[in-house]
Amino acid sequence: MKIDSSLSAVVTGGASGLGLATVQALRAAGVKVAIFDLNEEIGEAAAKETGSIFCQCDVLSDESVDAAFAKARAANGQERVLVCCAGGGNAIPTARRDKKTGEITIFPSDKFEWVLRLNTVGTFRCITRAAAGMMTLDPVDGERGVVINTASAAATEGQMGQAAYSASKAAVVGMTLTIARDLARESIRVNSIQPGIFNTPAMARAT
Ligand SMILES: NC(=O)c1ccc[n+]([C@@H]2O[C@H](COP(=O)([O-])OP(=O)(O)OC[C@H]3O[C@@H](n4cnc5c(N)ncnc54)[C@H](O)[C@@H]3O)[C@@H](O)[C@H]2O)c1
Repeated sequence: MKIDSSLSAVVTGGASGLGLATVQALRAAGVKVAIFDLNEEIGEAAAKETGSIFCQCDVLSDESVDAAFAKARAANGQERVLVCCAGGGNAIPTARRDKKTGEITIFPSDKFEWVLRLNTVGTFRCITRAAAGMMTLDPVDGERGVVINTASAAATEGQMGQAAYSASKAAVVGMTLTIARDLARESIRVNSIQPGIFNTPAMARAT
């Protein structure tokens, strides 16, 4: 795929860290970009700085994601590129004993589920919408579009406390080939990256 001003892209989590760097790289190549992010303040600022449009969006919600795609397409046309960077996690031991009090606590199920909903279901929710939109386009140079998901090295090498995060990212890795097979006949490519640690606002908060 030629990365130039003929393309429109959606970057989820595009207001910060990896997503923002992706937005900057795409904009430098002339691509029209829509930033999907929960955080309106930094999202608007990132859009202004990069010449993108901001679509406030919670990847946990069908309605919110649908509204964001509608806004993005009204401004930039149907996207041929989706980069899924929206994500996050928590660090809670599976079960732990307080050294001072001896109290034993467990990883709360709702906090585990939230990470799966954010990183796995949130990513899948955006892919389904983008794929359906890309399928309305004619192929260019043999392809209609490309989807890139962000997994993590934690998919197979999670640190202590990262049970939910590791599970959610292993699920991203696991679903990628299946989704790629689902969409191959429509000439839509699907890949995931599995980065190790890099310095972002999220990482700074965690350390
Ligand atoms: N930083 C690292 O070391 C590292 C390593 C491996 C993988 N990752 C992954 O890379 C991706 C980006 O991480 P980052 O470090 O740049 O984090 P970051 O916090 O800087 O950026 C994440 C962005 O996602 C947005 N977001 C969070 N919840 C959202 C929601 N419900 N709906 C829409 N947007 C939402 C946040 O507002 C934020 O702007 C994540 O998927 C993360 O798991 C990061």
